[in-house]
Amino acid sequence: MKSIQIGDLKIKVPVFQGGMGVAVSISGLASAVANQGGVGIISAVGIGMKYSVKGRFTSANNIKGFTTEIKKARELSPNGIIGANIMLAVSDFDELFKVALNNLDIIIVGAGLFLKKPETVTNDEFIYSKTKYIPKISSARAALLTFKTWDQKFNRIPDAVVIEGSKAGGHLGFKKDELLKETKTLFEIIKETREILIPFEQKYGHKIPIIAGGGIYSGNDIFEAVQSGADGVKMGTRFVTTYECDADIKFKMEYINSSASDVVVIDSPVGLPGRAINNDFLKSVTAGKKKPVKCLWKCLKTCDYKNVPYCIAEALFNAANGNMKDGFAFAGSNAYKATKIETVEEVFNQLKIQYAEAENTYRLKDNLVQAI
Ligand SMILES: Cc1cc2nc3c(=O)[nH]c(=O)nc-3n(C[C@H](O)[C@H](O)[C@H](O)COP(=O)(O)O)c2cc1C
Repeated sequence: MKSIQIGDLKIKVPVFQGGMGVAVSISGLASAVANQGGVGIISAVGIGMKYSVKGRFTSANNIKGFTTEIKKARELSPNGIIGANIMLAVSDFDELFKVALNNLDIIIVGAGLFLKKPETVTNDEFIYSKTKYIPKISSARAALLTFKTWDQKFNRIPDAVVIEGSKAGGHLGFKKDELLKETKTLFEIIKETREILIPFEQKYGHKIPIIAGGGIYSGNDIFEAVQSGADGVKMGTRFVTTYECDADIKFKMEYINSSASDVVVIDSPVGLPGRAINNDFLKSVTAGKKKPVKCLWKCLKTCDYKNVPYCIAEALFNAANGNMKDGFAFAGSNAYKATKIETVEEVFNQLKIQYAEAENTYRLKDNLVQAI
């Protein structure tokens, strides 16, 4: 697999681990992936739940948790590339962004269009930062709007872009019917995005790396993504069933024990569709049963916490801690493919072998066509 250059940052293995909340990818997983030459991503959403006493989750705990996990990841992977995933939908986006800026190599921003400078940082800090900015979006149209806005407003553009297709886990940037029909494949969206980035690459004089996510599970998938114009990939689901993933073993076993029909699209209480592994908790909320919500602060901007059927942050955190009775596991459409728990190193080795095999098969076919 070819390395990627993002400004002065050289990523040896073009594999970004997807940020997974709540507390599924924090310092343990992020540092393990970074130590393999990939990009380890700490998920910022709800991270303070791990640092709250007696469930008193507040914004202050979130900042404390985020700062502590960044420090731990840096200690565990002093030379690795570590970033964070910060969702625009979180109420403390601006504060988390300030912590991430200059302490991390990369900030991935999803769950909304990243078109505004966070208020906690100055114009100069934002524009000239060493930390790389990567918006996560789901269409070429959204990429065009983002790059055009940055060009006009900041006279700079994002350092790379994550294109996430409809097969991903977690909250998704598609309408439910688009997801179920898969109206456009990830590879089609990548090809369209490659086209719209050309004028920006010409104006700024460098390549804009595209990172493909959503349903990438094997080295063969990585090869296909690269063939369609991606420079790297972002993988979440594949890393859940590793020893280093920060979630409890019961969370990981949900993946291993699942079959394809258990992976379902749900309506999340925050108004977005999401993909998860069906369980009794989800069945009971789908049947209309409400779970009591104790909310100390509205951690998600769009959450109507007085009326939601359950607190999604709490349900995801419960699951990450192995309490599947009071929560559920977000998962990508390939989650059922997991058969065992492996080390992150084993996953990387497999991906490299599978990628090389896919590349060889492609070359052989190509040579054959040329010979004919
Ligand atoms: C368990 C789980 C939790 C996730 N949590 C988040 C999250 O909090 N914020 C976010 O932007 N994306 C989240 N995602 C999406 C991942 O960052 C990544 O983009 C996605 O998993 C890629 O698709 P894949 O799972 O098919 O590899 C989550 C995915 C999973 C599987």
